[in-house]
Amino acid sequence: MAITNRLSTKEVFDLLRSDLQKVEEELSRQTSAATRPIAEIGQYLQASGGKRLRPSLLLLSAKLCGYEGPASARLGAVVELIHTATLVHDDVIDRADTRRGRPSINSRWGNHLSVLAGDWLYMQAFNAALDERSFPILDLLISLTQVMVEGELLQLMALNKLDATEEDYLELAYRKTACLFSVCLKLGAILAGKPPEIEEKLGAYGINLGLAFQLTDDILDFTSTEQKLGKPVGNDFREGKVTLPMIYLLQKCAPEEALEIERAYGKRSFTTEHLEPIFDLMRRCGALDEARRKAANFAEQAKQALAVFPDSIYKDSLMALPDFIIERES
Ligand code: IPE
Ligand code: IPE
Ligand code: MG
Ligand code: MG
Repeated sequence: MAITNRLSTKEVFDLLRSDLQKVEEELSRQTSAATRPIAEIGQYLQASGGKRLRPSLLLLSAKLCGYEGPASARLGAVVELIHTATLVHDDVIDRADTRRGRPSINSRWGNHLSVLAGDWLYMQAFNAALDERSFPILDLLISLTQVMVEGELLQLMALNKLDATEEDYLELAYRKTACLFSVCLKLGAILAGKPPEIEEKLGAYGINLGLAFQLTDDILDFTSTEQKLGKPVGNDFREGKVTLPMIYLLQKCAPEEALEIERAYGKRSFTTEHLEPIFDLMRRCGALDEARRKAANFAEQAKQALAVFPDSIYKDSLMALPDFIIERES
């Protein structure tokens, strides 16, 4: 297939700039409604940035489907609030010190406040979603939240279980990441009043993009640097999370190497230097290459799901995103 002038990330974000500005205004409005410590946490979270990938997906989907109006920025803020709530709770569960290059909420405000702030953010998201007076939208968001919470629960129960399969991994990646991506895309179609077939195509794009994104995140945990990621590398290994690169490594390495890995897995005291031989083995045995091929495959499937849509700058943007996601370094 000929590659025709793929849009750059900057071009995509320029296209969304004014809408993303509205999302930011909505986020400020939403979080300033809280009592003091929570409002402070909300401001801290907003100022620490983040890629705003989920609102961007929702905005692009709405525009692709021909929707113009204020609800896409409002719902953009809703999906970002849900995402943020999951991160705040996730950092408590994972005992993470750093997020987005700064101290995590739990390390600055402690676990108690973080749990309450996460709860508040979820409820504020639903409160804002209620403004649309739409059962299909609430239905999607409530099911999504349950899928994600159950995902965290399953992940917690799966810690340090080195016999996890590729299928187990994909189920977790769906729950943690792909389901929310898919909901962002579907919300755009719902706002535009598109029929279920169109919503499903966009949902399929979102799932495949989300799986590519999570898998890339899990590859970067072994290949990137703390400076680029805004969180320490090797974290999944230290936390005992069995990700796909790890599953492939265990399939490919020698039995004595697998024993070494088992001994080191889930040891929080291990520094990046301790982990270097394992990173090296992962590169040498081809586990990372296989994981990258798999991510590229999901990216390709995402693009294929868009075949039914007529050409537009929004379609070009969505077609460009899967490649950015698998090529990203942070
Ligand atoms: C982090 O998501 C959680 C995962 C799904 C790996 P992002 O990498 O999109 O987080 P921010 O919002 O840009 O910080
Ligand atoms: C992030 O999961 C939380 C969700 C996507 C719900 P992880 O624990 O794998 O991601 P990081 O490494 O903290 O961003
Ligand atoms: Mg985590
Ligand atoms: Mg991770």
